[in-house]
Amino acid sequence: MSEALLQDTATRIEAAYRELYCTDGFIPLHQPCFGGREQEYAATCIKSGWVSSAGPYVEELQKKLAALSGARFAVPLSCGTAGLHLALLCCGVRPGDEVLCPDLSFVATAAAIVYCGADPVFLDVDEDTLSLSPDALEVFLKTHAQRKGKECWNRKTGKRIAACIVMHNVGFPARMAQLQEPCRAAGIPIVEDAAESLGSTLDGRMCGTFGRAGVYSFNGNKIVTSGGGGAVITDEERLYRRCLHLSTTAKKPHPWRYDHDAVGYNYRMPNLNAALALAQLEQLGGFLERKAAQHAFLKEKLAGVAMAVLGPPQGQPNHWFLIARLTGTPLPKLIAELARRKIMARPVWSRISRMKPYRQYLCADNRHAARIARSVLCLPNGIMAAAGNRPVPSGGK
Ligand SMILES: Cc1ncc(COP(=O)(O)O)c(C=O)c1O
Repeated sequence: MSEALLQDTATRIEAAYRELYCTDGFIPLHQPCFGGREQEYAATCIKSGWVSSAGPYVEELQKKLAALSGARFAVPLSCGTAGLHLALLCCGVRPGDEVLCPDLSFVATAAAIVYCGADPVFLDVDEDTLSLSPDALEVFLKTHAQRKGKECWNRKTGKRIAACIVMHNVGFPARMAQLQEPCRAAGIPIVEDAAESLGSTLDGRMCGTFGRAGVYSFNGNKIVTSGGGGAVITDEERLYRRCLHLSTTAKKPHPWRYDHDAVGYNYRMPNLNAALALAQLEQLGGFLERKAAQHAFLKEKLAGVAMAVLGPPQGQPNHWFLIARLTGTPLPKLIAELARRKIMARPVWSRISRMKPYRQYLCADNRHAARIARSVLCLPNGIMAAAGNRPVPSGGK
């Protein structure tokens, strides 16, 4: 790869972003956009004293999330990682089990499995959805899985395969139908890691509503933020009640006595964070429209650059970032060159199976994950930046 191609690629990217963001300054990968009633709701919490782990905004958020996602129930939590942990526990994952998951994800996907005392099994992702591959799942199940009654066992390791985590990578919807069918046949419940895919839809349904439970994150780098926070959504009342109970230290209801009927967790979302989340969710439609418009603008400006702007083959993504596959430029060099030009870029994710704490676990031959980790880049698509800017079709408000 020539230096000239690297410089040309970086120059074209920089020009597109400077035009969109109308700034000569630093362009972060993401920045939260507080353009709604965030201050008003936060001030209400402070004035009332309801800033901690109970309060009216938590209850409102519970209802709002259920209504918005289409799930029957939602449990707001302190972060998405806590949501994954509880969702797995509530689906029955126990110490000694195995849980299938994509090799290419944020580390929380696998960490939550290990929190349960279970072993992650790392499978490959699709080249186009960047999410768990139905082909990889099928090969694994054919060679390893054996159904016994309602459960599925790994006939090679002798361990129970207790769940499968499907993560919608960078908001690209995974091939749910092709993943659900074999999991159903094998008796393996699906937990959706929808941390990055709030607002993404597949066949008109929100990502996060296909599995037994779905998990959102409202971390500061997500499309909607509560500072820190997350949620579990589900249609199952028993799962919802268990999740709520475990998230509130498994305390037995009583006006004043402290008695806990399980080892629970203090995973509740504080009211102050719920206030932010609510104000942000009120703007989700506008955020999605603006991101889609900016994505179209950038895609057009970047045509002919030595990279392909990617979109999922199915469903409607939330355009969290601009995702591009490099065709001639090595990823580390381009990231460094863009950083020199004050534009932040990151690889899509790294392979978790290659990280020290996770090398001990089962891992398939994950060629797509390896290739994507080497060549697919996240570029900014921040909402704040374009608010009031000229060239982007107005889309939202
Ligand atoms: C795929 C994925 N899973 C889980 C998480 C964890 O969410 P949180 O940071 O809210 O714990 C994140 C993001 O941070 C994520 O991107």
